[in-house]
Amino acid sequence: MSGREKQELIQKALEARQMAYAPYSHYLVGAALLTEDGSVYQGGNIENASYGATNCAERTAVFKAVSDGKRRIKAIAVTGGMEGADPADYAFPCGICRQVLREFGTGDMTLIVAKNVTDYREFGLEELLPFGFGGESIK
Ligand code: THU
Repeated sequence: MSGREKQELIQKALEARQMAYAPYSHYLVGAALLTEDGSVYQGGNIENASYGATNCAERTAVFKAVSDGKRRIKAIAVTGGMEGADPADYAFPCGICRQVLREFGTGDMTLIVAKNVTDYREFGLEELLPFGFGGESIK
């Protein structure tokens, strides 16, 4: 992935963050992922009054892609921060989202956590979820 492609994905994640529905935590997260065929899917966190029914931004984007038949994720950019301000910190995926990314990420999937298009960090799936459990174990 070129630097420019990474910046475009971060920009899409920041755009998705504007669609987040987070009236309870006021913590807005946006994710944008790139599938193997070059498609981009965006997602924001979607909260719920029951709290437990909340869906994270990463999983919103992954489920949109998978429900469209795109099961191979090459890269995902995540941005998050409090409402009314630009992201002040890197927003790392929660444990459940890491497990979902383990399911649909390619072996060399890149996770980009970004404050903005120029301030970001990159990680691999193995760094994100070492010794992870996957479908290959169920035979
Ligand atoms: N959240 C995400 O969207 N992604 C994560 O990986 C961590 C948490 C959301 C869920 C909830 O709406 C808000 O952030 C505060 O936990």
